[in-house]
Amino acid sequence: MIKFKTKRLVLRGWQPSDYAPFARINADQEVMKYFPTPLSEVESNANAEIISSLIDKRGWGFWAVEIPAISSFIGFVGLHIPAVKLPFSPCVEIGWRLDKEFWGHGYATEAANFALEYGFTELDLNEIVSFTATQNKASQAVMERIGMSRDSETFEHPSIPVGNPLREHFLYRLEKAAWIKMQSS
Ligand SMILES: CC(C)(COP(=O)(O)OP(=O)(O)OC[C@H]1O[C@@H](n2cnc3c(N)ncnc32)[C@H](O)[C@@H]1OP(=O)(O)O)[C@@H](O)C(=O)NCCC(=O)NCCS
Repeated sequence: MIKFKTKRLVLRGWQPSDYAPFARINADQEVMKYFPTPLSEVESNANAEIISSLIDKRGWGFWAVEIPAISSFIGFVGLHIPAVKLPFSPCVEIGWRLDKEFWGHGYATEAANFALEYGFTELDLNEIVSFTATQNKASQAVMERIGMSRDSETFEHPSIPVGNPLREHFLYRLEKAAWIKMQSS
């Protein structure tokens, strides 16, 4: 199984024991506050299956995150090609979703920094994007901590119904050249 280590975390392919804690995370109203609805167990398992098979196919994706000796699964962080067409497609996005028990420790930022390095060095991407509902300040803070810059225009996420206040999204971008510059400063 694919496995990478950062200072405090392991990012890896998914295993069957991840599905139950992932379903608990996806059922949590607070974690899913900026998504249209929390997910049922069936929806969560289907989601895990897609994420896991994309890693098997591509060798990268939304990796499962564990904290050795503390928790065998705290959520996911990684890279993904959005399934829906967005105004800035084609693109590779960086994304994250963690169990709220593990918020406030810098874990998302630590794992995201690894994902950026992987995307720019191993995959040789020219740009990585990230996007979230305008209300999701915690996610925007991760984007800013890892050095991404926000586009001045918002966009309407096509998967969220017209009229839903979560439809308006901020788009953040980071180009490889800017990331290389950040590494040397
Ligand atoms: C988005 C999400 C991952 C952010 O989690 P987070 O805990 O705020 O982010 P990090 O893991 O990077 O932790 C940063 C916080 O830990 C603190 N911290 C503590 N120890 C730290 C350390 N050693 N290193 C860095 N930061 C540390 C930081 O000061 C910061 O706290 P603050 O928010 O009070 O400023 C989380 O809110 C989440 O899973 N949300 C639900 C899913 C979601 O919305 N996903 C995005 C959809 S687009």
